[in-house]
This record gives sequence, structure tokens and C-alpha cells, in this order.
Amino acid sequence: MNPKTLELNGQIVKIPRHVAIIVDGNGRWAKERGLTRMQGHDAGFKNLKALANHIFDRGIEYISFYVFSTENFKRSKEEVGHLMDIFVLLCRHELKTFMKNNIRVIFSGGDEPLPQKVIEARDWIAEQTKNNTAGTINFCLNYGGRAEIVNAVKKIARDKTPEEIEELTEQEFSKYLYQDLPDVDLMIRTSGELRLSNFLLWQNSYAEFYFPKTKFPDFHEDDFDQALVEYTSRDRRFGGIKNN
Ligand code: IPE
Ligand code: IPE
Ligand code: MG
Repeated sequence: MNPKTLELNGQIVKIPRHVAIIVDGNGRWAKERGLTRMQGHDAGFKNLKALANHIFDRGIEYISFYVFSTENFKRSKEEVGHLMDIFVLLCRHELKTFMKNNIRVIFSGGDEPLPQKVIEARDWIAEQTKNNTAGTINFCLNYGGRAEIVNAVKKIARDKTPEEIEELTEQEFSKYLYQDLPDVDLMIRTSGELRLSNFLLWQNSYAEFYFPKTKFPDFHEDDFDQALVEYTSRDRRFGGIKNN
């Protein structure tokens, strides 16, 4: 199947099907400006909303945003509480936009130890938007890649007989992850950090990685388009010889 393409400023770019973004650098962005980390997260989430619209406008079908890792609970009570409040507000206030744009909202991650109000707001918006078809936004919230895989193994062990487990394929295994998603094509981590931090370990197997130095609150539409130009220049071989 030929990949989807788009003309951008006279250049043809390839459009990935699934883009995953590690939202990083909010804290450092705030520090540089003499602001609190909380203000950095506010700026990050304001940017996330604008960026998500732009990404769907470019024809991408799936966006995964890593917004809170299982490890992020190690942060101060104030910072964790502020982020949890942001998630609740995002779910409650953005429904109109998601409905208008026909976007399905899904989540990857466990329940424990999320506050009940976050679980309720999360499940509510997922339910409201479940029949939308123009695109899917996957918030990785209280998410850990290893936990996701271990969780899938446990579900399979409960569901299947030993004979069925012998026959298990990679495709079937994917169905037991938090969400059954297509592989990530393009993985972006802002702020210059060069690591995965436990993000979509299974789904990122053959992703192209892009590490802009820009901190997330400053990573805007043009920066994303630049990522598409870079993605277009990559030769995705998937272990073969030549793919284009
Ligand atoms: C946002 O950036 C990531 C979230 C947990 C939402 P950080 O808070 O990790 O910012 P830095 O890395 O400290 O700059
Ligand atoms: C990864 O960023 C998690 C999210 C962006 C949600 P971190 O800032 O928590 O990662 P480390 O600690 O630098 O690896
Ligand atoms: Mg960080």
C-alpha cells in the first residue's frame, strides 16, 4: 500500500498513520522563564490542544500523547495534583471540540493509583466519543510500557488454554494491550532527551524517532511539519533491503 502524501510548501511529504509524542520539557520551559512547573504544564497542555488539531488536519489517523507515566507519581504532591486537575479539565471541557472534529478519545494506562475523579472523567469522555471516526487520540495516562506488556500476559493466561497460547501470534498479542493500535510510524520526543522512558515499548518497534531540542510548550505547527519532512527522508526498510 502506498503511503498517504501531502504537498507542503511545494514539497511532497509522507503522512504517517500513527504519530506518538512524548510531551517533555514543560518544567524546564517554565524554569527558563522564572515560572513554576505548574505554569509550565498549563502552557504544555494549551499547546497540546492546538497541536492535536493541526496533526489531525495533516491527515494523521492516530496520535498517542505520553502525558503521565507510572513513574511520574514520584513527583511532588503539588505537581501531581496539578497534572491530575489538568486531565480532569481536559476531559470535561474539550468534549465539544472532539465531537465537532469527530475524534475518538481513548486512554492507555492502569487505574491504580489514579484519583477517582480522573478515572471518572477519563471513562466519561471515552464513552462519549467512542463512535467518532475521523481520528483517534490516545492519551497515555498513568502509562508504563512494561506494565502494559505484563498486564497483557496476565490477561492472556486467564483467557486462553495452553494449546491456544502455543498458537499465539504477535497480532493476537497486540489485542491484549491497553488498546489495539497500529504500530507507531513516527515517535517524537521534545526537549532534547534521547530516551523512551518506558513509552509504547511494543508499538514503537519499527518507529522512526525524532528528537527536537524544542521544549514542548514551544513545539508548534511548523515544528511538527518539519518532523514530517524529516520522516519523509527516512528509508524505512523493516529489515528488508530497500523500501522506496
Ligand atoms: C512534561 O514535562 C512531562 C509530564 C510529566 C507531563 P516535564 O515535567 O517532564 O518537564 P521537564 O522534563 O522537567 O522539563
Ligand atoms: C516521560 O517524561 C513521561 C512523560 C512525558 C509523561 P519524564 O520527564 O518523566 O522522563 P524522564 O524522567 O526524563 O526519563
Ligand atoms: Mg521531563
